[in-house]
Amino acid sequence: MKRRQFTALTLAAAGALGGPAVLAQDNTFKIGLILPMTGPQATTGRQIEAAARLYMAQHGDTVAGKKVQLIVKDDTSLPDVTRRIAQELVVNDKVHVLAGFGITPSAMAVGPIATQSKTPMVVMAAATSSITEASPYIVRTSFTLPQASVALADWAPKNGLKRVVTLVSDYGPGLDAEKFFRERLMLNGGQVPESLRVPMRNPDFAPFLQKVRDIKPDALFVFVPSGAGAAVMKQFLERGMDKAGIKLIGTGDVTDDDQLNDMGDGALGVVTSHHYSANHPSALNKKFTTEFAKANKGMRPNFMAAGGYDGMRVIYEAAKASKGQGGDALLAGMKGQIFESPRGPMFIDAQTRDVVQNIYLRKVEKKDGQLWNVEFDVIKDVKDPGKTR
Ligand code: PHB
Repeated sequence: MKRRQFTALTLAAAGALGGPAVLAQDNTFKIGLILPMTGPQATTGRQIEAAARLYMAQHGDTVAGKKVQLIVKDDTSLPDVTRRIAQELVVNDKVHVLAGFGITPSAMAVGPIATQSKTPMVVMAAATSSITEASPYIVRTSFTLPQASVALADWAPKNGLKRVVTLVSDYGPGLDAEKFFRERLMLNGGQVPESLRVPMRNPDFAPFLQKVRDIKPDALFVFVPSGAGAAVMKQFLERGMDKAGIKLIGTGDVTDDDQLNDMGDGALGVVTSHHYSANHPSALNKKFTTEFAKANKGMRPNFMAAGGYDGMRVIYEAAKASKGQGGDALLAGMKGQIFESPRGPMFIDAQTRDVVQNIYLRKVEKKDGQLWNVEFDVIKDVKDPGKTR
């Protein structure tokens, strides 16, 4: 074959491939969902993917006349992997929006990519206060640790828990929880005789719990990321901490609905503060939990699923407003959204791009043979107390 002939053929073939590919791109709305599907945070990935798929099953797979394409990628919760995947999704797949982000370091790693490519980024899980400041393209549908912790620091001293030791995972969300719980408790006349930090990966709680036993506070306040709560509960009970008169309290991550029902009756009475309980009494949540279970072999949605489901809502409604465009138009459609979530009312603050929502006080109770986080009080419309502006 002569060189000129070859070139012409190659170009023709490229044209034939290029034509429909370009068309397909125009008719799809692409969501790049990056989640930990394996490794220690795998339950977060499983919950959020299931919630995203449920949202699509309920609301259809077209939006603004475009076919929605959900591209799910496993980052194994390693931030370097998250960054590489995000880059590929933006450059090769040309996604309209990035979403997911199981842990804070993964969300932080992608902020600069969102900014440079002007790609909106919906944080559905990670919950360190400062994440939304890592890029003007970040919008959050999960929660923040300051938001959840402050409510419990108001509740505890009024309920006889004045001396409280804190025990947190030693990274962003844990440090937020420790700081905001401690400052608020002390403002309320309480004391924090010790603040303990456990490694984020492969924590051994035993030596820390022994220390707590020796201090013998009224309560132990715990933050560990979703998936680690059951291990804390088990060791807390095995060491007879409850029998020694130490109450376990924490943000709702510790009585995670993904694990709660398997924690046993030792979990009964544990008080936590959080934005979502699978037991939240509303018609919308009933429908959410029922259909979620039906589509996923009886699985109970946890707060990660709520963040994923609401994140899809924010994306769909923004895509309608932007007529399927990405970039700044899509971002604009996300800001200021106000709607009813399975968690209750929620709002995306247009200035901070962070979630404003109710925080509930809940107690673990048994109902119909199952353990639930039963809400007994609510603080309405809580903004993230961690925002510096
Ligand atoms: C986080 O890494 O930001 C994170 C992970 C799991 C949680 C809360 C926060 O349950």
